[in-house]
Amino acid sequence: AGAEAGLPFPFGDWGFDLAPQYARVRAARAPACPVRTVNGDPAWLITRYDLARRVLADPRLSLSAALRPEAPRQEPLPIRLPEGTGDIVTTLNKAGLHHVVADALGPRAVKRHQEWINEQARHLLDALAGPPADLRAGLALRLPFALTRRLLLGDLHQAELVRLNQWADAILSWGPGLSRYATADLAAAQEHIYRFFLHRLPDLAAGSGDHLLKRIAAPGVLDQRDLAVFAASMFLAGYRTSASFLAGALVTLLRHPDALRAVRDDPALVPATAQELLRYTPMATGGVKRLAMREVDLDGLVIKAGDLVLVSLEAANHDPAAFPDPDTFTPGRDASGHLGFGHGSHFCPGNRLARMQIEAAVAALAGHSPTPRLAVPAHDLPWMHGAGFRTPQTIPVTW
Ligand code: HEM
Repeated sequence: AGAEAGLPFPFGDWGFDLAPQYARVRAARAPACPVRTVNGDPAWLITRYDLARRVLADPRLSLSAALRPEAPRQEPLPIRLPEGTGDIVTTLNKAGLHHVVADALGPRAVKRHQEWINEQARHLLDALAGPPADLRAGLALRLPFALTRRLLLGDLHQAELVRLNQWADAILSWGPGLSRYATADLAAAQEHIYRFFLHRLPDLAAGSGDHLLKRIAAPGVLDQRDLAVFAASMFLAGYRTSASFLAGALVTLLRHPDALRAVRDDPALVPATAQELLRYTPMATGGVKRLAMREVDLDGLVIKAGDLVLVSLEAANHDPAAFPDPDTFTPGRDASGHLGFGHGSHFCPGNRLARMQIEAAVAALAGHSPTPRLAVPAHDLPWMHGAGFRTPQTIPVTW
């Protein structure tokens, strides 16, 4: 509809600052802004906090419909692992396995690992060779990997992580024009990651430990293809989100040495600092997607059935109507309503695990003596071009 003349989206903000377009369209009177995706499809972009919450809680706006290959889409290719449905949550629900995920990621299960993960974070910082050292390779990629091996997927090797991350870089890129990847690279990477897990599945499920993949495989309800899709989805939704977010959060902390000092002086500030990191640090360069199943009136704007709606959680988290002085990092403010994990029925089931890692990283970084600091001016950090999840290529630190 009105999206014909839409702004090209994403806005090309690959680093730690949100593109100025977000603030501009949020300040405009219209509830949503027409955009055009890299696939050439029209979509509605939501940037206001109140509307973001409303859209994400509205059952007429569907995530699983937005994942169907024939739906208008934000990405250059449907995120659809070969032969799989791509919508693993629906697959788990149908198989009656949703509670296995909820149990494994629930508060009690996660709390049991808190001390272990704190120790991992301290250990990784102690093991940094340098100065200078790369905090992305040394902490942001490794801490979630330790957790992924122990809690999600079992004994993957470091060399396998390198390959998995290379495929994920392609899968999560915006494709030709914006990134260094051609559409064929994206398709190949989806195929590789799926084949990788299909091949490794028997060993991972039979290996040591009590991780989620093993628990999902145990009842024998899902076939090998669904299990491989599950593993690949967990790698992308559990590992890559954590690793990307953590890298961005570390950059935020290093740019705010006062906040780190405050945590060092009062470790009770760790949880509030993690919450404010989740509000303040932008991760995705796109939006979370929903497809309108029928007409929806959004404050007078008519979203037609079949329209694609993209919610920028980053823009909503920087809405001055919800968070005063939103572009200032203020640990201790009430950031608890942030949308970093989404909202509504798809609210991130891994949020506790994710928060545990962030808190461990904050505590370890603040407690480390001497405190690491950025070895280059913050604005010289090299960010991955055209990445769906903002990713600094390295985080050089010194001490
Ligand atoms: C969903 C963010 C870590 C598993 C989501 C959503 C967001 C999000 C925003 C909602 C997407 C939507 O509404 O369409 C994050 C961030 C993380 C993180 C920022 C790390 C800092 C994790 C971890 C796991 C996980 C560690 C797994 C163990 C999932 C799954 C979904 C999801 C399975 C899909 C839920 C559904 O469709 O109902 N995540 N996540 N996430 N997350 Fe996370």
